[in-house]
Amino acid sequence: MQLTWLGHSCVLLSGTKKVLIDPFIEGGSAAGIQPDIVAVTHGHYDPLGETVALGKKTVAISELAKYLKAKGVPVESMGIGGTIRVDGVSFTMTPALHSSSVEDAGAIVSSGLAAGFIIGMDGLTVYHAGDTGLFSDMKLIGDLYHPDIALLPIGGRYTMGVAEAMIAANFIGAKTIIPIHYNTWDGIAADPEIFKKSIERTTDLKVRVLQPGGSIEIGS
Ligand code: NI
Repeated sequence: MQLTWLGHSCVLLSGTKKVLIDPFIEGGSAAGIQPDIVAVTHGHYDPLGETVALGKKTVAISELAKYLKAKGVPVESMGIGGTIRVDGVSFTMTPALHSSSVEDAGAIVSSGLAAGFIIGMDGLTVYHAGDTGLFSDMKLIGDLYHPDIALLPIGGRYTMGVAEAMIAANFIGAKTIIPIHYNTWDGIAADPEIFKKSIERTTDLKVRVLQPGGSIEIGS
């Protein structure tokens, strides 16, 4: 499976299927990606991004799924703690400590809870934490799902910063950690190399710092 970080929280998993998570690309477009499945962690404009324009089968929490369905998007609705299979790809929805709403024509519409995903494809397990603060049940996520890769926000302000994400990485125990949700804008500036050095000096975990558009092969 190939994992591509498209900047911010947008991640493409390319294996048996193409799964695009949180399709917001700062200064770019997801239009050329043609994913089979889109997964959206919550309703803010940055995870939601081009979800409606793409119009692909979209996995989301039930309230957000209802909103997207009304916009003409084919949806797979689910809730936190649940697992579904979509075209052979498994999605388990995890908690995230964050808010969630959609701005629609100037109004703020509630879109359920913010979430993260455990995604299983081609024998590999990827944890996308979504936008979240640190919470100790990340230990449970590690114990239950044993993710091979964890995508963790480090930008601070709206999510965990570097210090909290270091603790999260230890809770989850994925051998490879990829930092996300940082340096998109000034308000979420963070140094991923400090994150990498601090984790690799104190644990056996590896941090892969990608540039937007950068890919790694996993499971090979
Ligand atoms: Ni958010």
